[in-house]
Amino acid sequence: MTICCGRSKTCLLIFLVLGYLCGQSRGQYVDDPSAIQNVTYTYDNNVLSGSMMIKSYPNNMNAYIYYETYDGVWNMTGTTITVHWQWENSENTYGNWSFSGAISPYGISKFYVYLVLVESGVTYTDDNNGQYYVVANGAPRSTANCTGYDVVRTSVSNGITSLDLALNGNGCALYSPDVKYLTVSITPYSADLVRIKITDTANKRWQLPANVVSEGTPSKSIKTKSYSVSYTNSPFTFKVSRPSGEVLFDTNVSGLPSLIYEDEYLEISSILPENANIYGLGDMADSFRRSPDTTLQTLWNIDQATTRKNNAYGSHPVYYELRDGMVHGVFLRNSNGMDIALVPGQITYRVIGGVLDFYVFTGPTPAAALDQYTSIIGKPAFVPLWTLGFHQCRYGGTWVSTQGIKDTVDSLQQAGLYLDTVWADINYMNAYDDFTLGSSFWDWNAYVSTLHKENLHHVPIVDPGIPIVNGYRPYQDGLSSDIFLKWPNGTLFFGQVWPGITVWADWFHPQSGNWWTKQIMKFHQIDSFDGLWIDMNEASNFVTPTGYEPAYKINNNGAWGITGLNTRTLSTNLTHYSGVTEYNVHNLFGHYEAIHTHNALSALNPGKRTFVLSRSSFAGTGSVSQKWNGDNSATWDDLYLSIPQIMSNQLFGIPMVGSDICGFNGETTEELCNRWAQLGAFYPFSRHHHATGNADSFFFLWESVTQSALKAYTIRYTVLPYLYGLMQQASQTGNAVVQPLWWHNPSDTNAYGIDTQFTLGNGLLVTPVLTEGATSVTGYFPDGIWYDWYTGSAESTSAGYKTLDANLTHINVHVKGGVILPAQYPSKTTYNTTQNPYFLIAALDNNGKSSGSLYVDDGVSVNSNYSQLSFEVSGSTLTIAVSRNEFHIAPKLSSVQVWGYTSISPPNAIYLNGRRVNGAQVTLSQQVLNITGLNVDLNNKSVLHWK
Ligand code: NOJ
Repeated sequence: MTICCGRSKTCLLIFLVLGYLCGQSRGQYVDDPSAIQNVTYTYDNNVLSGSMMIKSYPNNMNAYIYYETYDGVWNMTGTTITVHWQWENSENTYGNWSFSGAISPYGISKFYVYLVLVESGVTYTDDNNGQYYVVANGAPRSTANCTGYDVVRTSVSNGITSLDLALNGNGCALYSPDVKYLTVSITPYSADLVRIKITDTANKRWQLPANVVSEGTPSKSIKTKSYSVSYTNSPFTFKVSRPSGEVLFDTNVSGLPSLIYEDEYLEISSILPENANIYGLGDMADSFRRSPDTTLQTLWNIDQATTRKNNAYGSHPVYYELRDGMVHGVFLRNSNGMDIALVPGQITYRVIGGVLDFYVFTGPTPAAALDQYTSIIGKPAFVPLWTLGFHQCRYGGTWVSTQGIKDTVDSLQQAGLYLDTVWADINYMNAYDDFTLGSSFWDWNAYVSTLHKENLHHVPIVDPGIPIVNGYRPYQDGLSSDIFLKWPNGTLFFGQVWPGITVWADWFHPQSGNWWTKQIMKFHQIDSFDGLWIDMNEASNFVTPTGYEPAYKINNNGAWGITGLNTRTLSTNLTHYSGVTEYNVHNLFGHYEAIHTHNALSALNPGKRTFVLSRSSFAGTGSVSQKWNGDNSATWDDLYLSIPQIMSNQLFGIPMVGSDICGFNGETTEELCNRWAQLGAFYPFSRHHHATGNADSFFFLWESVTQSALKAYTIRYTVLPYLYGLMQQASQTGNAVVQPLWWHNPSDTNAYGIDTQFTLGNGLLVTPVLTEGATSVTGYFPDGIWYDWYTGSAESTSAGYKTLDANLTHINVHVKGGVILPAQYPSKTTYNTTQNPYFLIAALDNNGKSSGSLYVDDGVSVNSNYSQLSFEVSGSTLTIAVSRNEFHIAPKLSSVQVWGYTSISPPNAIYLNGRRVNGAQVTLSQQVLNITGLNVDLNNKSVLHWK
């Protein structure tokens, strides 16, 4: 039982929706979790009807059922259905009650049975026991006449199967006219990847150009395939299976339309197992494993601060399913707005344009699945090494002048904190105009030179909204090149962002890239930045223009009350170069801007890697840009959500990603910032940022946060060679840098739902504290030995949960037995760290073995010479093999730690390539053998032996 208003969100909504309830009967508000039982329902033709058992209470009361039109947020839109019942005597008797009412959901609907019983003075609720009942046939129109398509002709040529389809009957014109004839092509791309594309045979439709979103390249010779594709003729459905017969994707879903293909509405579904393990689909702040029963993923890029289960800044129509220890994935290469719904046993796509262009990839390991996905969209860009350091940012506050920023940098350094990159938010600009410096930044470039001398870096923000100011070069140049976005009648489109009235570039215009490059190059003359931050690129507009809205309403911004496509963005009516409408390419704005920005930076520094931080993203953005998760809030929930967000982005091919440390919006607290500093030290992209209007939250402002940051970032900078190696591998194979625990053993079902912990690569397990007031944390340890980072002692030797101490300045980090971590003694910048001696942490597995690798290059060049080493410890020997030694490694290997060393006494002597190393010292404590005083040249192979 809880008393009003025990659950604040509930209460808030009750106040909002039924204000009178809470207001009048405030004194007694009883939360009875067993008030509703056995709910059944049907939803057909906009009528929701069903029955349920409702407990009877002493008096005659009304029950209200609320429904909502999206998943997870208590926004009770629409009407309520009132259930009346007769008086029943006994308090614990359940009566069976039916309900029925019309609801016309705006988009896909589901309802939540939420009971409110009002009796004079007492309000009973059941909000604990309620459940979501997803409206399975969620399209609020009858699909009875949607009988799909028939195959009328088949041909096979060069391994590609082509099918001609004809509409079966008259079609259903659910939201727009049916397309009469379709062409299906089934193209094997590789042994593990197949593409199934369904297009309009007779008429051109919007299709993604390959230069904007890569479509991959089919291999010429494919010997054995790990899939087969079959189809039914009438109606047409298709199925992708493994050779074992396991069906991965099957559009023949009982009771659902086989295929709806209309001008502005495409619907197709596939069967999923019950309780499927689905990951991916985004952007969205949600658990990493998506609810297989109640997920509604809308894809329509929007400038919306982190909100659970809302569409967000980017669009990634890809999911991965983990089934019986094997992973496969499905990518829908389509940029149009869409809803993707996971309901029990099925996934349904509802798309408002473009074509159906599916890629199914078969894994079966998680790493293989990511390799296959990134073979389509592009491998992640390899980041410059310095970007792996700590980044300091701030919007407003004291960061409104060079001096203000300098003061913060000085304080960070005085506190002994790590720092690599100093950012500049819009405050550096004159009147928020891109590519200008405000008067309080007159000495900015001199300061940037100082930063560079200290081996620090600088990244400023650039927004896509260009103010319409006469004589302002970016505007004038853009006008001359005619690259700004226009209405269909050819007049410029105006909106509003920070600088006031603005126009936006049409990234599809062949001259827009040159225009952007020119502005960036000119800007570099007054601000010698090292990378660029592209913000507001959904595109965000402070006003909502008029624009076309299709009949099918996707669940745009659903958590805030569903709204049209034009909300706070560019008009869907705008016409891009060659007639492409914004309606089709809205989700590509940030992605295409990132491509142009990457190209501009490549032109500025030929041969060098670029660093572009984008807020908006699409499939493939990771190949040109990095990403942060936008405006989070200083809440414990957002601290947690950052982990699934970062893990999901790994699946999108964007390994270099992070969230604003300590929280962007709202006031943080010492404790929250403390825990965030600890967790953020293990984000691939690790940046502290904070919104204007809030008090400063720099680490150095609190002693405890300073201690935490020092401790956690010392680990980060120590394992910098390891982290850099992970980034390099990701750029080759797409593999995740931040890995969920099931990555290590996809058959370990215990790990499927864990998203409060992660590993960096396969070697470093991070178990952060995510709850206020906690001084311990319970974490899961996958099978194998896990060594405590700080002591080197084995914490866990078999799979299971463990509760660990976690005082305020401690974050638990463990090293996996079997892994050798390459490390360097840390300095306060990444550059200085790379100059320090190396050491190895060899954490032994149960067989007394471990292995690892080291990748070294110049840290900045695209095709740098590089050296590649591998390490192996077995018995009492460390073997260092050099598979490539193009890049001279100056620092020496000065020590080796062997964790899990089981001999009772330490070795007497150390030998390098057979010769005794006289200066070597050895200590042994708690099974940690520490061999110091080495001076091993890492440019040659060597064997280190102890006995
Ligand atoms: C929105 C961005 O998400 C945020 O990080 C930035 O500080 C503000 N825009 C101001 O530029």
